[in-house]
Amino acid sequence: MKLWGGRFEKDTAKLMDDFHSSIGFDARLYKEDIRGSIAHARMLGRTGIIAAAEAQAIIDGLSGILADIESGSVTFMADAEDIHMNIETLLTARIGEAGKMLHTGRSRNDQVALDLRMYAKSSIVSVQKALYGLCGLLLALADKHKAHCMPGYTHLQKAQPITLGHHFMAYFQMFLRDMDRFSDCYRRTDVMPLGSGALAATTYPLDREMVAKELGFSEITQNSLDGVSDRDFCIEFAACAAICMMHLSRFCEEIILWSTSEFAFAALDDAYSTGSSIMPQKKNPDVAELVRGKTGRVFGDLMGLLTVMKGLPLAYNKDMQEDKEAFFDARDTLLGCLGIFVPMLETLQFDTERMEEGALLGYTNATDLADYLVVKGLPFRDAHAVSGSLVLAASREGRGLSDYTLQELKAYSPLFEADVYDAISLEACVSHRNVTGGPAPDAVARSIQEGKKRLEKFRPEE
Ligand code: ARG
Repeated sequence: MKLWGGRFEKDTAKLMDDFHSSIGFDARLYKEDIRGSIAHARMLGRTGIIAAAEAQAIIDGLSGILADIESGSVTFMADAEDIHMNIETLLTARIGEAGKMLHTGRSRNDQVALDLRMYAKSSIVSVQKALYGLCGLLLALADKHKAHCMPGYTHLQKAQPITLGHHFMAYFQMFLRDMDRFSDCYRRTDVMPLGSGALAATTYPLDREMVAKELGFSEITQNSLDGVSDRDFCIEFAACAAICMMHLSRFCEEIILWSTSEFAFAALDDAYSTGSSIMPQKKNPDVAELVRGKTGRVFGDLMGLLTVMKGLPLAYNKDMQEDKEAFFDARDTLLGCLGIFVPMLETLQFDTERMEEGALLGYTNATDLADYLVVKGLPFRDAHAVSGSLVLAASREGRGLSDYTLQELKAYSPLFEADVYDAISLEACVSHRNVTGGPAPDAVARSIQEGKKRLEKFRPEE
């Protein structure tokens, strides 16, 4: 008989069991479920709602079940519906009558909300740890390449020279913001819902604070209807994950471009690329492509969660069982992607000479040429026109701007003098962009220092 079988005259159809069972995907919550139940039972015993001996029997029984699950000796039953009823059924089979007291003052509605919040909290910690590693790697790469010049792009057209270190620090900022976003999400997830009951709390004098404290929650929920029906924390997690995946995906897109023979700025390590079954010369950036592709899945998880929740009346509805697969998928996908992205980036080889060459070609110093004339007294708009006509001529003739003799330059503007060559050298173009947030090697070094300080706030415990 089902745990809820009292008001039923016959058993559910097999088809029904298969359709509504969630054990196939919520079994992974077993640890949280057992920890939550132990805290609930201990509180029931301490408050005298059940006898101390019964509470202890429950706690011992649950600890034994946890050990058995971890050793692989437990097979969950599909007709026990979900992880919560599977564990309660196992408990009663193991310790008898006392097991039937565990669910006093509790509903699966607040139980599942608790389990999911606990799981989300530890997921955030894992994501933060992975992001911390990625940010550390970016700082190291930025430091190594702070003086290596490369072309910066807008519209994927060469724009102005920057440094490779500066490029890495741009991604560092994105992932640092992601960590900050996950921290905010953690704060709102860290709220204990047990005591909300099915929807209308409970008649038992539960000590909710005691349970929160034992389980390491900072607060308890303030409304029972909201306590059982809030899934904002899952949605927020998926939103944070979606933004983080979007950042990873942009990075991957660049790695894919950089590894083409057209760019040839970077070469993937053999360990993180694949070949073609027909074209012997191929070396494909599968990791970067898969991460880019999986970004779509995580966006889908976010949309799925929002859509499941959008029309639900208060309080719990079974629709909400659909939260788990999307939330778990967003979590697993993000952790999986971060897990492989880091070693892929760590082993990526950068062709810094080729990057510098790329910055030298393509007139990335045309703005600096205009700025030179501005310093000599020409209004910027006129200087822009002079530099533009020089670029037009130079590109027709296949020359660089520094290939022009002073005499030739003077035909475009009498303000040109011999110091123009230094002013438009790649080194000058980059080192003069030294404001905070700029690509100059000095500015990058300062931003690395500042970045280290900010990252410290997220150093994982232990
Ligand atoms: N498996 C359910 C879920 O994930 C647990 C809560 C069930 N509550 C209920 N009243 N049927 O949402």
